[in-house]
Amino acid sequence: MAIEIEQPSVGLSKVAVSETHGEDSPYFAGWKAYDENPYHESNNPSGVIQMGLAENQVSFDLLEEYLEKHSEANLGNKISNFRENALFQDYHGLVSFRKAMASFMEQIRGGRAKFNPDRVVITAGATAANELLTFILADPGDALLVPTPYYPGFDRDLRWRTGVKIVPVHCDSSNNFQITPQALEAAYKSAQSMNIKVRGLLITNPSNPLGATIQRSILEQILDFATRKNIHLVSDEIYSGSVFSSSEFVSIAEILQSRNYKDSERVHIVYSLSKDLGLPGFRVGTIYSYNDKVVTTARRMSSFTLISSQTQQLLASMLSDEEFTENYIRTNRERLRKRYDMIIDGLRKAGIECLKGNAGLFCWMNLSPFLEEATRECELSLWNSIVQQVKLNISPGSSCHCSEPGWFRVCFANMSEQTLQVALKRIHDFMEQRRMN
Ligand SMILES: Cc1ncc(COP(=O)(O)O)c(C=O)c1O
Repeated sequence: MAIEIEQPSVGLSKVAVSETHGEDSPYFAGWKAYDENPYHESNNPSGVIQMGLAENQVSFDLLEEYLEKHSEANLGNKISNFRENALFQDYHGLVSFRKAMASFMEQIRGGRAKFNPDRVVITAGATAANELLTFILADPGDALLVPTPYYPGFDRDLRWRTGVKIVPVHCDSSNNFQITPQALEAAYKSAQSMNIKVRGLLITNPSNPLGATIQRSILEQILDFATRKNIHLVSDEIYSGSVFSSSEFVSIAEILQSRNYKDSERVHIVYSLSKDLGLPGFRVGTIYSYNDKVVTTARRMSSFTLISSQTQQLLASMLSDEEFTENYIRTNRERLRKRYDMIIDGLRKAGIECLKGNAGLFCWMNLSPFLEEATRECELSLWNSIVQQVKLNISPGSSCHCSEPGWFRVCFANMSEQTLQVALKRIHDFMEQRRMN
């Protein structure tokens, strides 16, 4: 949530007063509109529906059921557990947790990639993982290439405290926003022309905000590009368990495996349980690096962002119960696909098309035919009407640094089916009204 900071009369550090946190973007302004007037089915039916938050609530019942059945897994029930948890502070994390996390990451990839628990570094969510990696891979003033549109939080996570720059790799609808060698090369050249040293490329697979996986052949090209330029490749795979069909997801880990781990020391995977298990409040993330030095340094740095031992213990139990995880992963995928179909169908009936997605908690909606002019200003003016009149908080593409105006990210998994239907009805009515005017 955006926090308003008063102008202090006594001086603060450059980081404290820097604008690079990006919290003045419409992405956060929309959250504020929701916070001030949140929709509630019975208490506030005309309030703002939050469709700007990539949160997964569709499988909460499965987690609750597990916890009810397995009270022993739950938060240090026994005094001995309580003491162990209270005293444990090693930044390596619990071995049982790292093992469970590694095997969960394998399971999500249909067993097609192997993960070594010794390479799992624990962090407080993917937010901390991405920042921590940036601190390790780049110096202030250096850059990471990031394909657009990208998750608005990256402005904060990669830039703010590290002093590292983001150089956008512009992707557009002409090829369904796929990353191409030409776009990568153009971004690299643009950094060079500004005398900025590129230290790495960060991709999100499946992508946020597109809700689509990156194809194997494109991943191969991306890795080849990183190798050719001798830069790092970070793959944020936080939505890997939210791919509607496991076979449609290729992790960078699979590509490395198929190449016998050649050049793997430049590759680092970020993962967290915030999306796939819907547990952002638990702050459970990991860095998985194929580079020994990065693993050691990341572990040292993780002292600042550890996961509480109690949380590790609970999740070690849950994630090592294969019967539970198998059922959870399968059911969660099915439910997300059903939601996706529901929203795509509803939007189509309202005359709106979306990019074809196969993953994630959102769709990438194309309102460009409805802009008065193809400009960022017109996109924001339409967005303003949607937030203020239709009372839906969605995220404008410009907040994701999309270079093509008119695209919006719409989340569908953080609400009940009924609320989603209310949201779709509102969009339908809004479009009808526009057609009549
Ligand atoms: C691509 C991406 N990376 C990282 C994050 C942050 O996740 P976490 O809650 O694990 O910090 C998000 C959250 O929306 C995301 O979409």
